[in-house]
Amino acid sequence: MWGSKSSKVALFKKVPLFDGLTAGQVEQISRLADEIEVREGRRLATAGETGRELFVIVEGRATVKTPRGRTIRLGRGDFFGEMSLIDGAVRSATVTADEPMKLLVVGQREFWELLNTAPSISKKIMSTLAARLRDADAAYSKVP
Ligand code: CMP
Repeated sequence: MWGSKSSKVALFKKVPLFDGLTAGQVEQISRLADEIEVREGRRLATAGETGRELFVIVEGRATVKTPRGRTIRLGRGDFFGEMSLIDGAVRSATVTADEPMKLLVVGQREFWELLNTAPSISKKIMSTLAARLRDADAAYSKVP
C-alpha cells in the first residue's frame, strides 16, 4: 500500500475506467480498492486457478497468456481479472507483471458494490469484454 486518501483519489482520476464519475462517486469507490505495488515477474492471475480480484493498472505493463498460447500485452489504464469475478469460474489466462507495477485491486464483494455505485463502469467493462471476445475470435479463426 502507498499514498494517502487524496493521492488514491488522484490515482482514480488517471484511469479511463473511472472517467466521468462525480467527486462523490470517486470518494465512495476509492474506499473499495487497495493500492498495491508488485515486482517484475509477479504472477497476478493463474489460468485454471480461482481468482477473486479485479486489477486496474496504474503504472507498468503486464502480459496475458491464454491457455491456447496467445499473448496480449496490457498497460496503464487497462484492467484484468474481471472475467472470474463476473462468472465465478477459474481464471481464463495467466497474467504476469513485465516490470514493476502499481495497481488498484478490487475484491469480489467490492466489485459488485463498485458497479452499483457507478453503473458507467459496467458499461466500460462490458465494452472491453466484447472487444476481447471479438479479438479472440478473430485470432482463432486465423488458425487453420
Ligand atoms: P480472468 O479470467 O478473471 O483472469 C485472467 C484475465 O486475463 C481475464 O480475467 C481477463 O481480464 C484477461 N484476459 C483473458 N483473455 C484475454 C484476452 N483474450 N484478451 C485480453 N485479456 C484477456
